[in-house]
Amino acid sequence: MSAADVRKVSILGKESIHCGFHLVPYIVKTVTETLPSSTYVLVTDTNVGNLHLDTFQAEFDKAAGNARFLTYVVSPGETSKSREGKAEIEDFLLLSKCTRDTVILALGGGVIGDLVGFVAATFMRGVRFVQIPTTLLAMVDSSVGGKTAIDTPHGKNLIGAFWQPEYIFIDAAFLETLPAREFSNGMAEVVKTAAIWDEKEFAALELRAAEIFAAIQTPSSDYAGRTEATRSPAQQLLLSVIAGSIGVKAHIVTIDERETGLRNLVNFGHTIGHAIEAVLTPAMLHGECVSVGMILEAEVARQLGVLSQVAVGRLTRCLKAYNLPVSLSDPRIASLPAARSLSVARLLDIMKIDKKNSGPQKKIVILSRIGATYEQKATVVADSVIARTLSEAAKVIPAFPSKSPIRMATPGSKSISNRALLLAALATGTCRLKNLLHSDDTQVMMNALVELKGATFEWEDGGETLVVTGGGGSLAVPKDNKAVYLGNAGTAARFLTTVCTLVSAGTGEQRTVITGNARMKQRPIGPLVDALRANGSSIDYLESQGCLPLSIAPAGLKGAHIRLAASVSSQYVSSILLCAPYAAQPVTLELTGGQVISQPYIDMTIAMMKTFGIDVERVKDTESGKLLDVYRIPKGVYQNPAVYNIESDASSATYPLAIAAITGATCTITNIGSASLQGDARFAKEVLEPMGCTVVQTETETTVTGPPLGQLKAIGLVDMEPMTDAFLTASVLAAVATLPPSEERTLRDGSRPTTTRIIGIANQRVKECNRIKAMIDELAKFGVETLELDDGLEVYGKPLSELKEGVSVHCYDDHRVAMAFSVLGSVVKDTIIEEKRCVEKTWPNWWDDLSNKIGLEVEGVELPSVQGGLASASRPTEGPSEASVVVIGMRGSGKTFIGELAASALGWQFLDADVVFEQKHSIGVRDFVQKNGWPAFRAAETAILQELLAQHGQRHVLSLGGGIVETPDAREALKAYAKKGPVVHIIREIDEIITYLGEETARPAYGEPVIDVFTRRQPWFAECCNYEFVNYTGVLSSTDTLAEDDSKTAPSTLSVRDEVSRFFNHITAQRPNYAPNLAKGRRSYFLCLTYPDITPALPHIQEMTAGVDAVELRVDLLRSPKDFDKLGPYIPPTAYVSNQVAALRHKTTLPIIFTVRTVSQGGQFPDHAEKEAFELFIAAVRLGIEYIDIEISWSEENILDLIARKGQSKIIASWHDWSGNMRWDDKPVEAKYRVAHEYGDIVKIVGKADGIEDNFALHQFVLRAQAGPDAKPIIAINMGVEGQMSRILNSTFSPVTHPLLPNKAAPGQLSFAQIQTALHLLGQLPAKRFFLFGTPIAHSMSPTLHNTAFEALGLPHKYELFETESVGEEIKAAITLPTFGGASVTIPFKRDIMPLLDSLSPDAEAIGAVNTVVPVTREDGSTMLYGENTDWRGITQSIRRSLPPSVLKPEAGLIIGAGGTSRAAIYALWKLGVPTVYLFNRTKSSAEALVDAFPDVTIKLVEELGKWPDNGPAPTVIISTVPASATSLEPLVNDSIFLRSSILSAPGGVVIDMAYKPAETPLLVLAKNVGKEWRTVKGVEVLLEQGYHQFHLWTGRHCPKKIVADRVWRAYSMSA
Ligand SMILES: NC(=O)c1ccc[n+]([C@@H]2O[C@H](COP(=O)([O-])OP(=O)(O)OC[C@H]3O[C@@H](n4cnc5c(N)ncnc54)[C@H](O)[C@@H]3O)[C@@H](O)[C@H]2O)c1
Ligand SMILES: [Zn+2]
Repeated sequence: MSAADVRKVSILGKESIHCGFHLVPYIVKTVTETLPSSTYVLVTDTNVGNLHLDTFQAEFDKAAGNARFLTYVVSPGETSKSREGKAEIEDFLLLSKCTRDTVILALGGGVIGDLVGFVAATFMRGVRFVQIPTTLLAMVDSSVGGKTAIDTPHGKNLIGAFWQPEYIFIDAAFLETLPAREFSNGMAEVVKTAAIWDEKEFAALELRAAEIFAAIQTPSSDYAGRTEATRSPAQQLLLSVIAGSIGVKAHIVTIDERETGLRNLVNFGHTIGHAIEAVLTPAMLHGECVSVGMILEAEVARQLGVLSQVAVGRLTRCLKAYNLPVSLSDPRIASLPAARSLSVARLLDIMKIDKKNSGPQKKIVILSRIGATYEQKATVVADSVIARTLSEAAKVIPAFPSKSPIRMATPGSKSISNRALLLAALATGTCRLKNLLHSDDTQVMMNALVELKGATFEWEDGGETLVVTGGGGSLAVPKDNKAVYLGNAGTAARFLTTVCTLVSAGTGEQRTVITGNARMKQRPIGPLVDALRANGSSIDYLESQGCLPLSIAPAGLKGAHIRLAASVSSQYVSSILLCAPYAAQPVTLELTGGQVISQPYIDMTIAMMKTFGIDVERVKDTESGKLLDVYRIPKGVYQNPAVYNIESDASSATYPLAIAAITGATCTITNIGSASLQGDARFAKEVLEPMGCTVVQTETETTVTGPPLGQLKAIGLVDMEPMTDAFLTASVLAAVATLPPSEERTLRDGSRPTTTRIIGIANQRVKECNRIKAMIDELAKFGVETLELDDGLEVYGKPLSELKEGVSVHCYDDHRVAMAFSVLGSVVKDTIIEEKRCVEKTWPNWWDDLSNKIGLEVEGVELPSVQGGLASASRPTEGPSEASVVVIGMRGSGKTFIGELAASALGWQFLDADVVFEQKHSIGVRDFVQKNGWPAFRAAETAILQELLAQHGQRHVLSLGGGIVETPDAREALKAYAKKGPVVHIIREIDEIITYLGEETARPAYGEPVIDVFTRRQPWFAECCNYEFVNYTGVLSSTDTLAEDDSKTAPSTLSVRDEVSRFFNHITAQRPNYAPNLAKGRRSYFLCLTYPDITPALPHIQEMTAGVDAVELRVDLLRSPKDFDKLGPYIPPTAYVSNQVAALRHKTTLPIIFTVRTVSQGGQFPDHAEKEAFELFIAAVRLGIEYIDIEISWSEENILDLIARKGQSKIIASWHDWSGNMRWDDKPVEAKYRVAHEYGDIVKIVGKADGIEDNFALHQFVLRAQAGPDAKPIIAINMGVEGQMSRILNSTFSPVTHPLLPNKAAPGQLSFAQIQTALHLLGQLPAKRFFLFGTPIAHSMSPTLHNTAFEALGLPHKYELFETESVGEEIKAAITLPTFGGASVTIPFKRDIMPLLDSLSPDAEAIGAVNTVVPVTREDGSTMLYGENTDWRGITQSIRRSLPPSVLKPEAGLIIGAGGTSRAAIYALWKLGVPTVYLFNRTKSSAEALVDAFPDVTIKLVEELGKWPDNGPAPTVIISTVPASATSLEPLVNDSIFLRSSILSAPGGVVIDMAYKPAETPLLVLAKNVGKEWRTVKGVEVLLEQGYHQFHLWTGRHCPKKIVADRVWRAYSMSA
């Protein structure tokens, strides 16, 4: 059974590579006989194992004798090639007691080969191993050379060794089970090897792609191929290709095993390819990226002038033939989200760290021709050269062409190339075709002619010359009835259809089949087939009538009279003409159907036939002598001329000639002259000469010399019908032609003197683009005026100096537009040609020829990214913006109130447009309207809007009148402004507005029902704004804050100030409201709200959110009350959602995560309601939501659009696998990660755990992800109870539940406190000790405060009293404990502690006292002690929370007392922006000391309470810092301070008494008695507020305020 014919290739002096088919028995026999051992271990992956392991097992069972045969199977994919993967195999080997004599067999692709090879290299310091590659890539590349490696999170293949296998068995039969894409992947390396080393091999690959594919696609039966006798030709070909490729690699490796020089060559395509791969992996495979890399590197070589375009073209077509991508715009690449990161800069950056480079210089293998390289190693290439190749746009640097006088040939004409190739193939003898334009058509025709055995082809001069050995017209049906595949090559299909009828009758039923790709199967061929059928040929349509594929009987062409409808395509005519000499009888071809299309091409065919020895006669009418559409073709055989020089493309030639004309240089095109067959050859004589150029034309050459720069003449009228393609070139010249035309050309119809009127080119409207329109639009960018005509255009010349510079020309993917404007770019500075690659259609190396042959420098230009160009409803700005905020909304919506609060929160100026209006017009709005009417008012109002935006565009909050949106001009101005700054629509319920307006009279009455006005303006407000602030019902009513006044609990209602501050600071990015723990890399959490309506839960929000960093609103679970009973998928109305958000905002300023989870991702939102989902997302952006969770399964288009509009919102890109099939160490999850990483600011991946080890896999995954260079925060979680571990260890935004919630958002969810406890038990959260330093402190509430909070959050810490007499050794010892978590400092140590600390906060420094010590871990792991003061924060927070709405901005504040606490009080008032601080203290000197201590604060000393210095305003904030016992409500009591009621003469304000005891101090009693608008704050409340802050500083967690406050108040009242 083991008898097999193998082909051996030697490497490093040993014949250790054995190639063949179905080799398993042979392999086992060879291994067991020549590598004797006690143990053989075969390692493979599950894919390969499932297919092939049994066969190996069976053979070993037969052969091994006493030896053990062990197998180990790993999961497939790159992730197995890891340290863990290696360790697993090693553990297996050790457990299995493997020893030094073990032989390891690596059965699989490159992953297995690299991994197992590395195991073998290090196991027991190296054991023998055998490579049995099963992918093509592994066969030809990774298994050969002895390189082994594994990946680390830092990069691929970073750890490894050179370790040569004993054998490499190439069993090509394995390829039969390999997926086609993997086969192509390997072919990239095969093509690469041939390209650098072996031109013959390359030619075979080029010609025989289809056969090679066929060899793996048809499975061989009965072990066919094992012996040479049973090997099919396809198998033979495949084997020789593989062996050939291996041979080259083996040769190179043998010469240079350790990759010092020559071995570098195999890196052709890899320098750029690897950079691409780094961005696109794993979506694109290595070979696919290398394929693109090869083309780009070949283009670099071409740019350097080393490689010809012919070679680049051949390489391109060859790779394409193996289904490989050849450019970054390939749809397989361009459609990937990651492709957007393929910027030139990024690729160059990645290349910089490539290990193939030496230092920062980039090395690229430069091809000099197919089969050879420029140097015997990689060549250093400048960044600018690579950048030019990679960038999508180009710029010509204006100059006089340095190569003038220029001599060049332009690429061969396509039509002539196609004809010449076919003629030479049908002729006898050998012909050398020069300047052939190598295109899809020529490639396909060459392949087909080889298959039809009609000719043979060979390249000479490094691909510059094609040597055709003609078959004299003898053709045969392709072997095995194989269909001839023509792709989408149209000319080839038409020419070859007739060629196939020439095939001579063979044996049996064989017919020739020609087919093409899907597009080809729609292109018409009917008229030609009809003509041939009518002439007796048997042609069948195999699919649709009138199109390919065709089945053609080999019966020869009958000839005689052939009638052809020739009004569709001249190519049908040429097809018959070219083949006609080989018909059985001389042909008379009669063209029917009237108008014959494109006569010049028919003439071209006839002229070329003559060159190859056949004279066609065009019949004349005997009477009139008129030429008829009838041709007589004699029988005969074409004779090959020794050399045929293919004429240059005349349209292409117009560009270099035009450059000569425009710059004043001289240019000679060497193979186009007066004898040319092409119409565009007339361009020089008929366009350039009249423009003032000197033109010299011989039969075969054309030379043009331009006039001096700026002296071109306009042409007047020119009919370009014979050379329509050249009109674009003429237009750009006309644009700068400023001298009048010669006398006889001057237009006499009153046209401008610099007019060039081009006519006869109407057909150019239906070319690659509407070229007339394109020229008009693009010339306009330069400031050139034009006029469109029915069949052309007029261009009015303009002096060069007046043309606009820096124009970016859009090319409409049209090569001619690009080339024409590069002519203009050679004289107009900084002209950017946007799509430089579109020249590939006819002149791929145009840019290179511009620099290398013409002598103009070309630079690559990277265009701004597409995303930046997208229009967006919301500002996509990053970072803080100082752009003013515009506030709009209905009258009565609260614009002024909210606007003023916003201005104060931002520290910006507030401006009310109405006030500005009255100042400007010296008349009230109401009077103005009465006097001048509404229209005049609206106009004046719009003018003011424009002024405001122009003059106060920065650091202002501008509140506009409600009717501003009534005029279109104002709306446009607002919309335009919304592109750069926030326009906020204040939304308030209409009923409330109506109630409110009942009282207000300042603005003119509507004169129509408010509700109608409201309805009309709503859409306008919506369209003009980019943000919406919901002025939530009830928040403004004063009862809200009143209710707390007496509360013994923490505030349950958030002050509207906090929400205004959050919202405006967030949307302006002044202080964005993101979770700080996230940025710091600390553990962060969010609470999932799973209510259909969250309002009933609002009272508990404070409690439930304790400790967490954000709240998640599960929007898909929301149900508006009327739909509560609806089951199943549901779309909540947007208005309901925004109301819910507003309600939540009313209770918490924590960031909101806005989540819409679909049914298939475990939620309730319908899977296909994509439009509605994105409407909700956009609404979220407008509401200033901090985080939006989007599923990556939504369409890319919508996601990208959202990203472009996301404003300050961050995107969490998430993927949920509910199937339970996702494995964290598998490829699919990596792909999901890549996509999520691309879209999201945060990545979220959720799987399902079946066992605890799934959590370890998850953890490894996260570590790998986090080690990446551009890692983003990742939320990675396993659902289910088995996944709880992952919820504990996840560190970014772990979702948590709370016992008070109705149900968990996901199975296995834990509470915040549970997670903390678990982390502690796992050793991830060590217990810390906290202290209170001071004396006397026995009655302090601080331990109750902090210990309650620790307990509530599940934190293991302890807070203790630490009473000492002085700041001495004991305190020093405490703060240096390793478990020290922080300390509060109270009287009398607030200043004494300062010398022990490493640094102070600016606040503590300014106040001159520390009440909080925070240990901070430095980057090096050491601890630093940081001093902070939270007293002042307690005071400001109490003031902000309690200040009645009537006191928006306190004018003055009073502080009673001048002790330590008053320092914090002064600072608090200053921080709040209170302009004047009154200070009362009985001892004047200590009061004066404070004045000196705060030079920045305006402090005025008060002699007598109630009498304010300088007749200043009465204070609206009063803070007492003296003991309660030192104050009295009666005059002259015990020497105490008399608090007379006149100190509360302001209508309202806040009174704070810092004294703890008694609860009701005289001052507070006074304030209560005085009146309604005065609020009071007790000392304990300030203590609580500062304590919350302290707690946050120590733990990074929000204090559970309600629980803490409840407990503290209880303890306080008990102690009182
Ligand atoms: N050492 C070197 O010199 C060298 C050179 C190039 C590449 N590499 C490495 O090779 C690896 C890539 O190798 P690869 O492309 O072979 O990938 P691979 O090993 O991952 O195989 C590709 C896929 O095909 C499957 N497969 C393999 N053989 C099969 C068969 N006969 N039938 C059906 N399925 C089959 C595999 O299970 C896998 O899913 C990379 O890790 C790369 O770094 C190494
Ligand atoms: Zn490679």
